[in-house]
Amino acid sequence: MKAPSHPLPPGRFGLPIVGETLQFLLDPNFADKREKQYGSIYKTQILGRKTVFMSGSKANQFILSSHMDHFSWGKGWPNNFQELLGRSLFVQDGQEHQRNRKLLMPAFHGQALAKYLTTMEQIISQYLSKWEKQKYLTWFPEMKKMTFEIASVLLLGTSPGENIEVLSQWFAELTNGLFAIFPLRTGWSKYGKALAARDRLLEYIDQQIEERISNPGDDALGLMIQTRDENEGHLSKEEIKVQALLLLFAGHETTTSMLVSFCMALAQHRDILEKAKAEQKALNIDRDLTPEKLKQMTYLEQILKEVERLYPPVGGGFRGVVKPFVFNGYYVPEHWIVSYRINASHQDRNVFPNPEKFDPDRFSRQREEHKKTEYSLVGFGGGPRFCLGYGFAQMEMKIFASLLLRHYFWEILPDQNLTLDAIPTLHPRSGLKVKLVSSL
Ligand code: HEM
Repeated sequence: MKAPSHPLPPGRFGLPIVGETLQFLLDPNFADKREKQYGSIYKTQILGRKTVFMSGSKANQFILSSHMDHFSWGKGWPNNFQELLGRSLFVQDGQEHQRNRKLLMPAFHGQALAKYLTTMEQIISQYLSKWEKQKYLTWFPEMKKMTFEIASVLLLGTSPGENIEVLSQWFAELTNGLFAIFPLRTGWSKYGKALAARDRLLEYIDQQIEERISNPGDDALGLMIQTRDENEGHLSKEEIKVQALLLLFAGHETTTSMLVSFCMALAQHRDILEKAKAEQKALNIDRDLTPEKLKQMTYLEQILKEVERLYPPVGGGFRGVVKPFVFNGYYVPEHWIVSYRINASHQDRNVFPNPEKFDPDRFSRQREEHKKTEYSLVGFGGGPRFCLGYGFAQMEMKIFASLLLRHYFWEILPDQNLTLDAIPTLHPRSGLKVKLVSSL
């Protein structure tokens, strides 16, 4: 594309270099405010990069599918992510990405998932019993411990209960560095600590792989070690290490966010809660859960879709522009960053009437509002790079929800701030303080 005959999107770049980074990180309504002012496509500057935000199902389809070749995932992530999360799926493009996704896929589909059910159920039951004893808890940090343990056991091969505290401490240090505005590499800085934590985690995964090489087992780590493609290609030890670390990152904060929103929404909508409990009762689950039983939880599936729509854990996805393009009459140059806006797309009243209403029936067979417009529900992304862990997350969330609905009552405690903060994943500011009791 030669000299642009179309204007650049409206918007402002803010201060030199820093741009509008602080507003983006600190103001949960940053993007909504600008969308109100400029419309569904606008420019800004974040982390020193000229960035265009685009929202709506047409924009999602453009970025996620029809014009994918204009965008790079790798170039979309800030340098901190690239360095801390290594050469993993998130930063790979083209053939390199396709090869790796194919080799990781078997650990996240079909039969493999069914093998994770018992482990997930055991860990979740233990946490629920612990919380029941506590009676009063702040759910967001507690849920994070639970999803972290599930991810560590299934993705890193950790034994349940072992090393979890220290691993989660390293992991917290790693994630603190992702959003460090000034990535100083000294030992005492946020970023320096994040680099050290990444090295410790990689060394830990290295040891886990060494122990597994002769007896891989059938958790996700074992499957990553064993999988071969049609040319007998496989992931090397170095590749598995960074991919496993990325999966730990991608897999547990997102699930934590959605589960906490699920608990909050149901406590606020008693009628929906009762209907969800009735579905569980009708399933007559007297012993352990099975994949078949999970498949029959169709009302629960509707609720989870509505939680995904109204409380998407991830607000959007970033891409680097590798070929300039024109969208909605605006020109976006090469080397800029583009972000599709998940939360804003889910608020489109032409697709989801009364978008602010929590209404799981919009996903009932009769209504299926999301199926009428492609790329309208994108809480797990879309197109060829749709979330790799979707099945894993669905299974974990359904097991948790089923145990919670069958055995517990919970209520939201008064005097807390339920304003939703978007970073690192969507969560109520006071973490959702609740009282949890057994219903038996
Ligand atoms: C991709 C959301 C759970 C692994 C994505 C994307 C979204 C997303 C929005 C696309 C991002 C983009 O387009 O920029 C979620 C949510 C989850 C969840 C809401 C839970 C409720 C998981 C789990 C795992 C996982 C449990 C793994 C164990 C991945 C990976 C990708 C991805 C590897 C990149 C796929 C690729 O590039 O081919 N996820 N995710 N996610 N997710 Fe998830």
